[in-house]
Amino acid sequence: MCGIVGYTGVQNGAPILLEGLKKLEYRGYDSAGIAVIQDRTIHIQKVTGRIANLCEKTQDGLLTPGCTGIGHTRWATHGAPTDTNAHPHASNDGRFAVVHNGIIENYVELRRELTEKGYHFESETDTEVIVHLVEHYYHGDFQKAVMKTANRLQGSYALGIICADEPGRVFVVREASPLILGVGIGENFFASDVTAMVAYTRNVIYLEDGEFAELTANAIRVFDCAGREIPKQINRITWDIQAAEKGGYDHFMLKEIMEQPRAAKATITPRIQSGQIQLDDLDLDFGNVRRILITACGSAYYAGCAGKYTIEKLCRIPVQMELASELRYADPLVDEHTLLIVLSQSGETADTIAAMKECRRRGAKVLAIVNVVGSTIAKLADYVLYTWAGPEIAVATTKGYTTQLLVLYLFALYTAKKLNTIEETEYCRLVSCLKALPKQMQQVLDMNPAIPRLAKKYHQAYSMFFIGRNTDYAVALEGALKMKEISYIHAESYAAGELKHGTIALIHEMQPVIALCCNESVTEKTMSNIIEVKTRGAEVLAVAHRENQKIVSLADDMIYVPKVDPLLCACVEIIPLQMLAYHVAKENGCDIDKPMNLAKSVTVE
Ligand code: F6R
Repeated sequence: MCGIVGYTGVQNGAPILLEGLKKLEYRGYDSAGIAVIQDRTIHIQKVTGRIANLCEKTQDGLLTPGCTGIGHTRWATHGAPTDTNAHPHASNDGRFAVVHNGIIENYVELRRELTEKGYHFESETDTEVIVHLVEHYYHGDFQKAVMKTANRLQGSYALGIICADEPGRVFVVREASPLILGVGIGENFFASDVTAMVAYTRNVIYLEDGEFAELTANAIRVFDCAGREIPKQINRITWDIQAAEKGGYDHFMLKEIMEQPRAAKATITPRIQSGQIQLDDLDLDFGNVRRILITACGSAYYAGCAGKYTIEKLCRIPVQMELASELRYADPLVDEHTLLIVLSQSGETADTIAAMKECRRRGAKVLAIVNVVGSTIAKLADYVLYTWAGPEIAVATTKGYTTQLLVLYLFALYTAKKLNTIEETEYCRLVSCLKALPKQMQQVLDMNPAIPRLAKKYHQAYSMFFIGRNTDYAVALEGALKMKEISYIHAESYAAGELKHGTIALIHEMQPVIALCCNESVTEKTMSNIIEVKTRGAEVLAVAHRENQKIVSLADDMIYVPKVDPLLCACVEIIPLQMLAYHVAKENGCDIDKPMNLAKSVTVE
């Protein structure tokens, strides 16, 4: 995820762009840049790091005068966070500059094609192909060049493009990435998010996928993908500015929960081509791998716990889980036949880094599944698969966790195919199940309006149990952690079959039990555990799919999820538990985005 902004009018544009970028910094903050037209020349300034560095470099924009410009704050996807990879990117002739939010999926082919035509690439980004295409298609008609370029792009993109020959004219294009136009008086704006322009105008136009627009100081014209001008409604923003930064949600955590279907799509879609999983960054010698060891901390560890079932089932390789804080001092039995999988959202967790270094020293090959490009873990690993969740602001991870799971699923299927441990029909079936997950994640968000009511019922509990078997148990671990960390209610996650070996002594009327029953291979068994706890007076809130009538009749309350293959169901099942924890914490007046005693990135031991 990145943030883009643009301005055309009569004021000095750079200070407006910089103010806008500061508001978009939550969308990405590893590098930033602006491009402004002055005297028919495009002047570009870029820096690594925060917007503050860009403000310093440009003296708050005073060094780059000009009334038309575009800006970008980056969350690196293709290419490390460096000055060269930062946007805006310029065409070889210097006539065009572009900012881009999204991912161009066919950039490899386009890059090859443009290189053969003689275009020179400065950066490692997917974005740079766009600006060279515009140059290539430009024969005096800026609009035509933009349209032809957009027709060549596959993937997701919100684009802002300027042309030195036509100062005062900006083109924007939207496809599966947010883009909003701001309607001013004698000036117009665009941005990824209204926060970047709400200080100047509250009148906005929402672009739809496939639409593009021309902005000049006095007019905005919107076109469909065929170039036909279309009428658009101007909407009035009535939110306060703070709410707008969170996209209208009360908290970043809720916003990030809601973003999960989109994040899932970004994680999966580019990696499935013609029904085959492509993990180009993983040129591992699978024949050499005798065992897999997964290490991580907190939620990332719990994602590994769920992924372990899928990998073992599909690949028939033993998978061992170790907490990174334990593994680092465990004198681990690893060698060159061990593949270590490291999971981390931030890529900076100290215990995970230490465990990884220790295992590497003993000969293990390391695959890192990380969200932050260019992070320490990404740099130290032999292979990296990014999760593409975009920046996560809330301390409690949500989309970070689900995208880790999705990458583990991709890995499991990819490896099973390499090792020949999966039948072709089963592989095809599971790949299409995987592709359906973003939609099912959206369904689970849509189908549970009762969660706030359930939170009102359960928010006064002193303690809760989360029970399940197999992947349901792995989800119970994460569900309980979510509840503990943001609502401060004690929550115990337990393998359902273990209750009777001691902890059932703690079950009574005041001890609600959250029973996870989505993995069909074990739900019958979990149902007998539900009966055990109900007999001892506990109220049971079950998570299951609607067709499971037996559970519906047993439980006191239900949360419904769509029916998903047991090997892939964890990433759908966790979502209502995130929502439940969120609403319980809200009922209890907790500081949801910044829970006490916690930090987003744990860079100390
Ligand atoms: C819980 C949470 C933490 C992290 C853990 C590892 O919501 O966010 O448990 O999962 O601190 O962090 P990363 O994934 O950054 O290594």
